[in-house]
Amino acid sequence: MLSPDRGRKVTGFRHSRQRFCSIFHPNQSKISRLTLNFGVYLRNFKIIALATLTLISQKGGVGKSTIAVNLSYSLARRGWRVLLIDADLQGGVGFSLTEKSKDAEGFYDLLFDEGSLSVENTIIDTKQPGLSLITKGTKSVADRFISGDWGETPLSDRIGRLEHRLSELDFDLILFDGPCGINPVSMALSVVSDSLLVPQQPSPLCLRSLPQILRMVAGARSADRGDSKRVPNLAGFVLSMADPDDPSNLDDQREFRDLLPVEMVLETVISIQRDFLEASRIGVPVAMLRDRPSASSLIFDQLAAELEPRLSLLEEEETFSETQGNYARLVD
Ligand SMILES: Nc1ncnc2c1ncn2[C@@H]1O[C@H](COP(=O)(O)OP(=O)(O)OP(=O)(O)O)[C@@H](O)[C@H]1O
Ligand SMILES: [Mg+2]
Repeated sequence: MLSPDRGRKVTGFRHSRQRFCSIFHPNQSKISRLTLNFGVYLRNFKIIALATLTLISQKGGVGKSTIAVNLSYSLARRGWRVLLIDADLQGGVGFSLTEKSKDAEGFYDLLFDEGSLSVENTIIDTKQPGLSLITKGTKSVADRFISGDWGETPLSDRIGRLEHRLSELDFDLILFDGPCGINPVSMALSVVSDSLLVPQQPSPLCLRSLPQILRMVAGARSADRGDSKRVPNLAGFVLSMADPDDPSNLDDQREFRDLLPVEMVLETVISIQRDFLEASRIGVPVAMLRDRPSASSLIFDQLAAELEPRLSLLEEEETFSETQGNYARLVD
């Protein structure tokens, strides 16, 4: 099995706005750190556009919301300005980060809004500098959504309109925690996002249903998006809730890596940790569970470091666009 921390070391450094930690490859040089700072600089001066990432999976309960909360927290600690949006009616993300989430207007209110609700008014700042949140929204609008009363405007148009409004905000990354499974909201979000991250639990059910998510990603990449030439990139599959002590789970992990192009499965593996469950019960990112971040929470720093170039937050060290070509041949 690939060990999550294999070949990496923890390094601390500063940047102009706040102190943050990172995990680098041992061979990563000062130049790479400069690249990170330079990336932050370019975004600060709006030379690089805001990026959007959506977490999707074909199966529910694979750790999407857990990854969304903890990855956003790590990215914010690394200096990026992150807006985490809870696009799941279950509201797991909001619950995990703020008690204000229950009554706040949020994602579904914005979807149904006809222009009276300002996006800025739905943004909630968290205790972590650089990390803000839009919750799922109010109960009445959620009920309206569940009853299928979406009005005249198709859902995909509503999501496209909302994405346009969000693109004017001053963030580096907008991260959508997609709803459970493949459904109209996750599909519409996939079409308008720059990148997709697909958590997969090493299990026979996830393996069997893998073609479904590949078809969904292919559909998002080939969807008609009007004048926009942007096509969503697959940032990667991330193995989540893996059990390193279970031989059949290790077999499933190997099978995922055998089935998919090697560069499409992230090196970072999120294993099952009691800490994560405890953190989500209390309502904090796992790094905030103790006075000092536990070793298990560092996995999200590693995930953030691995994703930065894939989300175009950083300049690429390897030619990742070439790997996108391989992927396109597999599913397009
Ligand atoms: N790596 C992990 N170790 C232990 N528990 C985890 C881990 N990841 C997630 N969990 C727990 O598993 C449950 C489901 O996780 P989570 O809500 O993140 O999944 P999800 O994919 O967002 O689910 P849904 O599809 O319903 O939105 C939660 O109780 C969460 O705390
Ligand atoms: Mg969820």
